[in-house]
Amino acid sequence: ARITLRQLLDHAAEHDYGLPAYNINNMEQGLAIMEAADAVNAPVIIQASRGARSYANDIVLTRLIDALVELYPHIPVCMHQDHGNGPATCATAIQYGFTSVMMDGSLEEDAKTPASYDYNVDVTRRVTEMAHSCGVSVEGELGVLGSLETGMGEAEDGHGFEGKLDHSALLTDPDQAVDFVKATKVDALAIAMGTSHGAYKFTRQPDGEVLAMNVIEEIHRRLPNTHLVMHGSSSVPQDLQDIINQYGGQMPQTWGVPVEEIQRGIKNGVRKVNIDTDNRMAMTGAIRKVLAEKPGEFDPRAYLKPAKEAMRKLCIERYQAFGCEGQASKI
Ligand code: G3H
Ligand code: 13P
Ligand code: NA
Ligand code: ZN
Repeated sequence: ARITLRQLLDHAAEHDYGLPAYNINNMEQGLAIMEAADAVNAPVIIQASRGARSYANDIVLTRLIDALVELYPHIPVCMHQDHGNGPATCATAIQYGFTSVMMDGSLEEDAKTPASYDYNVDVTRRVTEMAHSCGVSVEGELGVLGSLETGMGEAEDGHGFEGKLDHSALLTDPDQAVDFVKATKVDALAIAMGTSHGAYKFTRQPDGEVLAMNVIEEIHRRLPNTHLVMHGSSSVPQDLQDIINQYGGQMPQTWGVPVEEIQRGIKNGVRKVNIDTDNRMAMTGAIRKVLAEKPGEFDPRAYLKPAKEAMRKLCIERYQAFGCEGQASKI
């Protein structure tokens, strides 16, 4: 059945676990997530970006989610708008049956330019009022996702805010976080602590210099009852890099967020962990392998089924690592 983000994260907080939020763009990804959740009895957060909604089409995506919920009636499913860029995106998500929206007011509506704090508070507060009146949860974001290695932020088009932000401005300020949650009444707060979206987060195994988990600990000390969200939380596993490169891919060596660091976050109030890149890599590695080993193959099912299986396996691993196993039937 459908459930709000608030209800899911309240349960996760009460029982000391974290929930991966997996991005969806198509049927294979939706089935992979639900089959994984069913295998370990985990609650589900599925999220769609603006790009996903336009790729899959809102009506197709809506019917797909309806089907997934109907297929697994015993699994609580939160359907979440990832990185909403303004009230209109959040409102249409609600019209399409999403039970949670992210208003990402850390960026202007163009989703590229870093926004002022006052803009962020104002737009997030307005979305929260609107969403809560519809029984829908809200995630806000404070701070700028980006790399502490380069001191650069990150925009949706992949270009950094070079020169526009200094190193420390990328991290969420704990004092501001307290003020923001009070002013906006968000159900969950996404914070910036050195991660970025995509595969190229770190040029070496991250340490405290580039992955500022201490920021999470400090914010959790000040806001013990606020559900924290980690974006850019793919681990970019070495074995997936290797499979992709073994079968004709060209991904330069890179490092993501180690699962143990996410587990440390979960001990400090992190309840929602956004993962897209790892699933993209799992699917792509499986597809490359089939196409390389069977160059005569042209039935999409021959590579999409292994792709779905690879994503299912990864989703199960994260559900287990974050403590979700068996939680679905307890909600
Ligand atoms: O926020 C980033 C997610 O990985 C979604 O990416 O905007 O390419 O769909 P996307
Ligand atoms: P990754 O690119 O690390 O998977 O992050 C996804 C994300 O934060 C979606 O909002
Ligand atoms: Na989100
Ligand atoms: Zn994100």
